[in-house]
Amino acid sequence: MSNSRTPEILVTGGAGFIGANFVRRRLASDPGARVCVLDALTYAGNRESVADLESDGRLHFVHGDIRDGELVLGLLRERSIRTIVHFAAESHVDRSILGPDAFVDTNVVGTHELLKAARTVWLDEAPGTHRFHHVSTDEVYGSLEPDDPAFSETTPYAPNSPYAASKAASDHLVRAYQHTFGLETTTSNCSNNYGPFQFPEKLIPLVLMNMLAGKSLPIYGDGSNVRDWLFVEDHCRGIEAILERGAPGRVYNIGGLNEQRNIDLVRLLCEVVDGRLSGDAELAERFPDCPASRGDRCDSLITFVKDRPGHDRRYAIDATRIENELGFRPVETFETGLAKTVDWYLANGEWCARIADGSYREWIDRQYAERTETFPNQPKRVAR
Ligand code: NAD
Ligand code: DAU
Repeated sequence: MSNSRTPEILVTGGAGFIGANFVRRRLASDPGARVCVLDALTYAGNRESVADLESDGRLHFVHGDIRDGELVLGLLRERSIRTIVHFAAESHVDRSILGPDAFVDTNVVGTHELLKAARTVWLDEAPGTHRFHHVSTDEVYGSLEPDDPAFSETTPYAPNSPYAASKAASDHLVRAYQHTFGLETTTSNCSNNYGPFQFPEKLIPLVLMNMLAGKSLPIYGDGSNVRDWLFVEDHCRGIEAILERGAPGRVYNIGGLNEQRNIDLVRLLCEVVDGRLSGDAELAERFPDCPASRGDRCDSLITFVKDRPGHDRRYAIDATRIENELGFRPVETFETGLAKTVDWYLANGEWCARIADGSYREWIDRQYAERTETFPNQPKRVAR
């Protein structure tokens, strides 16, 4: 049911992992909220992730590309949109190494098309209150050594992968449109997310779905790379805090206060799955190939594989600004977040089965089979 007092917002990439969680949360928490999703439904986009929300008319789904400037202009004008929350991106580091072009096209050119349309409508045609929120990543800051201080909003940019470089470029465009034209923007740079609806090319859903299928759990290098993990709903809460109380032109880092080595994380995930499946006859029957279903341990599937080229050693977020200025802190612990994530993947077999269809499995199998040949020489890390 629509409520004319709550203006509709445009969410780009709302059929992807974080975008879908954001849309679901927004519509659930405010009965008057309305959302227009613009999503190109790439391999990573799934309309099913939000399809159940379309029935009451509060979610308007547009299957289209953010690079289509005319389409974006039309949406802003016709739907009187004054807020954009911009998630749409090519988001996987490994794919950016295999094929960087799509990352420049969507992340740089696409973001610029959105900024141009917002400037035209919000500054030239119908000036007034507006907000462009750009969802970015901590990867723009590069890589930390073990004893380095965490990334703050003033850490110099030093992106290392084509993905990170394309996100850095988009951050700079957003900043320039604020500084030069007066477009009211905010940017959040967030650490690694995990939770429901994540595409299983990323570490947590990949190893989770692999262990349930009895397949090997590929760990890049020696598994000592560190990431700062945040439950996706906490990220969405952080973005809401910025939309409600963030100052135009301000950048906010969002993190999980939760640094984990990859190998420790995967072992922990194995323990959670071992615990869920052992002694549960119904789950054991559904996942007969999972070692835990026959009383073995999932960590027996761990396999060390050739490292990712240029693999960033460590990410960590200093979230002082968003905590002090907006009062935001994550509410989920790693234990509760992981438990919710495992339970969601166990309960949503249909979603997983649709994702893990032939084309996905083919891509993953080829990716790991080719790893050794594709990346024979690990390049030196870029000096900072
Ligand atoms: P995702 O890959 O799961 O989803 C991306 C979505 O964007 C998909 O629905 C896809 O169809 C859509 N999309 C791609 N190209 C498009 C285009 N040209 N036009 C319209 N839609 C297009 O990504 P995610 O993990 O949900 O990440 C969302 C955003 O958050 C990205 O900007 C990413 O850089 C950022 N981010 C992600 C993480 C993380 O851990 N996943 C952390 C920090 C920041
Ligand atoms: O830090 C935020 C970023 O986090 C986001 O901007 C990106 O969109 C998101 O993909 C994520 O990037 P990472 O490269 O850190 O995430 P990924 O899940 O691909 O990998 C996490 C860590 O696990 C990383 O050190 C690489 C390692 N890894 C990953 C995969 C897919 C493995 O060891 N094995 C794997 O099979």
